[in-house]
Amino acid sequence: MAGDPTATDAPYRVTLEHADGGGTAVVRARADESVLEAAERADVALPFGCLTGACATCTAELLAGSVEHRREPRGLKPRHRDAGYVLTCIAVPTSDCRLRVGSDVAGELTTNPWR
Ligand code: FES
Repeated sequence: MAGDPTATDAPYRVTLEHADGGGTAVVRARADESVLEAAERADVALPFGCLTGACATCTAELLAGSVEHRREPRGLKPRHRDAGYVLTCIAVPTSDCRLRVGSDVAGELTTNPWR
């Protein structure tokens, strides 16, 4: 079935924990498929904007496992990358992984001068 990939054609199990209390979803990622693409294929809505790694709207926190960015994640500062933040639009799982997702996560990277 095209919409129901098996472990054979989608080797990595990706657990998405919604930071805003929206629950947890588990999707499978195909080889070379980004976290965002795998989530969309499974009808799990995640925030996104540019889809090129520039805007950081899709920021997530990698809690376990590993991903590789397809290209330089320009939307993240080195200290954010060091802290475990990734961009789901260009982050391709390289193992089973667990991520904290949702628009609240991107908000953690900016300082709000009004608070
Ligand atoms: S959607 Fe813009 S960096 Fe991912």
